[in-house]
Amino acid sequence: MIKVVHTIKETRDAVNAWRKEGLTVGLVPTMGFLHEGHQSLIKRAVAECDRVVVSDFVNPMQFGPTEDLESYPRDLQADTKLCDETGAHLIFNPEPEEMYDKGFCSFVDMTGPTAELCGKSRPIHFRGVCTVVCKLFNIVGPDRAYFGQKDAQQLAVIKRMVKDLNMPIEIVGCPIIRESDGLAKSSRNTYLSPEERKAALILSKTVFMGEKLVREGLTDAKKLVELMKKNIETEPLARIDYVEVVDMDDISIKDTVTGDTLIAMAVYIGKTRLIDNFIVSDKGV
Ligand code: PAF
Repeated sequence: MIKVVHTIKETRDAVNAWRKEGLTVGLVPTMGFLHEGHQSLIKRAVAECDRVVVSDFVNPMQFGPTEDLESYPRDLQADTKLCDETGAHLIFNPEPEEMYDKGFCSFVDMTGPTAELCGKSRPIHFRGVCTVVCKLFNIVGPDRAYFGQKDAQQLAVIKRMVKDLNMPIEIVGCPIIRESDGLAKSSRNTYLSPEERKAALILSKTVFMGEKLVREGLTDAKKLVELMKKNIETEPLARIDYVEVVDMDDISIKDTVTGDTLIAMAVYIGKTRLIDNFIVSDKGV
């Protein structure tokens, strides 16, 4: 039976007991309201580690002042059921005060891979992500940590942080999980009205279109972005934040789709900002 704990001490005590038995530990950091995307990360962690901790914490530090911190969906009971059924061993669900006590003033910040894409439109976001993920790594001390490829820039940022700060943790990226009609799974999909839910399909449709264009031989990044943007603009409820072609590791803008390339987009559907992407590697799309 899965255990839910709310304090750093309880989490450390559980992990220390496992370590005494020589067990390996995986961490799946989440903000809760878990769906099949998170479940695929937990499944992978369960397959690769003896014990799995899921952190379930809506991190205030990564939300801008006008963003959706208050309305971000929460359901610890459903999360607990999903984690239990998927084979995780511990949920760490702290209150914000447990993570950020009075006087908190230390941050993990990054230049480079945070400069483009979501870092441009959400200027304090990655400082919040890096700080909380660093804290979670220090609290749990996992052998491996699992992140979704849907947040491709976040994955690149965390990999860079671990490398730069010599954290002895293997970062495992896991594929995007989609609804049967193509929409990438996201906790924020719950914000969409039925009409917006239909309109949101423009993201995955544009991803599939982009993949097809690259498969057919298009390598000019400018042209690819132009065609993808044109396609998104056919949807009246969509407003483009960005469509960019970047290097998959350092998130610098690229002119050509060659080598490890990330084609990423953020699009508002009504008030809801959704992201999606695809990757082109040397092996193809
Ligand atoms: O991807 C998320 O859900 C969050 O950014 C993370 C990694 C759990 C940090 O709060």
